[in-house]
Amino acid sequence: MARTFLIDTDTASDDAVAIIMALRASDVRVAAITTVAGNVNVQQSTRNALYTVELCGADVPVYAGAEKPLLRRYENATWFHGRDGLGDHGYAPARRTPESMHAVDAIIQTIETNPGLVMVTLGPLTNVALALARKPQIASQVGRCVVMGGAPCCEGNVTPAAEFNIWVDPEAARLVMLSGLPIELVGWHLCRRDAVLHDDDIGRVLALNNRVASFAIECNSHARSAYKIQTGEDGICLPDPVTMCLALDPSVGNWSEHYVDVETQSELTRGMTVVDRLSVADDERNKTVWTEVLRRPRAKVYWTMDTQRWKAALMAGLR
Ligand code: BDR
Ligand code: CA
Repeated sequence: MARTFLIDTDTASDDAVAIIMALRASDVRVAAITTVAGNVNVQQSTRNALYTVELCGADVPVYAGAEKPLLRRYENATWFHGRDGLGDHGYAPARRTPESMHAVDAIIQTIETNPGLVMVTLGPLTNVALALARKPQIASQVGRCVVMGGAPCCEGNVTPAAEFNIWVDPEAARLVMLSGLPIELVGWHLCRRDAVLHDDDIGRVLALNNRVASFAIECNSHARSAYKIQTGEDGICLPDPVTMCLALDPSVGNWSEHYVDVETQSELTRGMTVVDRLSVADDERNKTVWTEVLRRPRAKVYWTMDTQRWKAALMAGLR
């Protein structure tokens, strides 16, 4: 029987590739795609999601969601993904339009009608936090919640402490992390270095010689240049597809379970994913120090993955 996925996304270039992987996985049914403001504004992210669904010949409903973070000013990442989020190649507008239901209602409804589903979040967590605030009990109806976000014990891509999806809406991320959802955290570090698509990998993708594969490379052209400027690494870095790969097959990664909280008070470390990697927090002598996090379930935090298997999964999705 097909597994049911729900994807929440601020659809830009790497989100689009992740959506393609899910839509093309033969044992997955994507019940809904919900969009949120992040890389681009929510109207553009919705257009990009619809374009991607249409490119795959799929008919998954797309629901538009939050236009801004819970409390903060909205910040985009067009410097990285291009003004339209897809590298500014002038893709034709999708023929389809979003559903009339709001993404937050769609998240609640999709979880309630598909208990045990896999939720994959690829953007700021605003929609998910709003859904949880309205119906906290949905947390126990989700089978897995695979989150692209954070920089556990590593450097971030917005500040040294924080990764974009968490930094944009840290209050939402904190609410989600402490909600009781069965979180699996895929940090930014997993998509770097050996996980980056280098020229030989890109050549192999283009040799697949189909529209979806060439779109996956083309729409990430702007992101490739920006990533080189940001990190000095040459190639296409794909955080959301790496996350989708681990949602499809968690055995590609190595994880351990830890308490995780998100910093919301400090300006310096806003959006930092604070991970109890050495499990010191529930040590008898420390138990009174970090009390709130101890009342929550631990999250699975991915530390490494098999980069060859990740690239094989990507190729399978684009074939
Ligand atoms: C995350 O932020 C966005 O730029 C990407 O789409 C990904 O979800 C990486 O920090
Ligand atoms: Ca994203």
